Amino acid sequence: MDDTASTTTSVEDNTGNLLDNPTRDTLAEGLLGLLKPTVDQLDERVRATRISQLELKQQIESLNEELQKVKEALNNHPDLDPYVKKLIACKHKVTVVLNVLQASQNQNRAQAGLCLIRAASTDTMETPYQNHIDSKDFDHVYEPAEDSFLLIDALEKDLEFLSSKKPIFCLEVGSGSGVVITGLGMAFPQTICFSTDINLKACVMSKSTASHNRVALECVNMDLTSCFLDNKFDIIIFNPPYVVTESSECGGTDITASWAGGVKGRQVTDRLLNMIPKQLAEGGVFYLLLIKENIPEEVADIMMKHGFQSETVIKRQVRNEHQLVMKFYR
Ligand SMILES: C[S@@+](CC[C@H](N)C(=O)[O-])C[C@H]1O[C@@H](n2cnc3c(N)ncnc32)[C@H](O)[C@@H]1O
Repeated sequence: MDDTASTTTSVEDNTGNLLDNPTRDTLAEGLLGLLKPTVDQLDERVRATRISQLELKQQIESLNEELQKVKEALNNHPDLDPYVKKLIACKHKVTVVLNVLQASQNQNRAQAGLCLIRAASTDTMETPYQNHIDSKDFDHVYEPAEDSFLLIDALEKDLEFLSSKKPIFCLEVGSGSGVVITGLGMAFPQTICFSTDINLKACVMSKSTASHNRVALECVNMDLTSCFLDNKFDIIIFNPPYVVTESSECGGTDITASWAGGVKGRQVTDRLLNMIPKQLAEGGVFYLLLIKENIPEEVADIMMKHGFQSETVIKRQVRNEHQLVMKFYR
């Protein structure tokens, strides 16, 4: 056999042909098969722990509020001060633990060679770094919670479907901290990402989350998609303010805009539903987070009238809230 007909697979032989390299692909597949179940398991556990920590933090916050009320009722009795201080210290500790968990999640992924897995497969999404955010900023901007993670999980579940759409323009309406659109931008680095939020502080945070995770994001302070004229997006996502409230509570531009959903918790969502036909590209897809009280069947009917099919991608019960993510496409 002469040199040109050699079938060896040395590094030298393959360096000129990196895009089409069966040896590298087989090796990558082998490694992937070995590492992926462990990384997925580890990742799932860290994510579950982070959700528990968030719950704990919320409970401490409400306890804190109750204590303040008791203190006021007792005319600011000084005996209660040490308890309030202890609770605040406890809350700070939980925040630190949350940050450590987040860092360890990212480290685990890096150590276990997730980069390799990400390059070779399309079935996982990374949770963006959020360590740059000061916990006090979440007094003004929606802090990622179970609903945010459910939306990320829905996108992760649909990664193969989304890849098949070869998306270029992605939009998150109401991006808050920016974790969801940043996660999407990390999964599809070739896309051009946009987001909007009615809360200016949320826009600043979204932009900073994206840049800390090396995702290019244009975030615009606007009502829903009202300032986009002829833009057509391949993917649109929305985790709306979905809590059923008095109509009058709706329409704020501060933290209340994160949750106050008015009648059926759908006052903001319904306005966006009417904008989707114009803003979504012909083969595009729209993901929407809802709760049972929003009456998802009615949302499907509205979208059907606009010519869209619908599907429930994922459902989860969080305490007494039934959350789900629906997708709509033509
Ligand atoms: C439930 S939070 C979700 C935040 C983030 N997407 C997440 O999943 O963590 C809803 C977000 O929608 C924003 N929002 C509410 N009404 C809006 C409107 N009319 N136009 C744009 N954004 C809006 C809020 O400011 C808030 O950031």
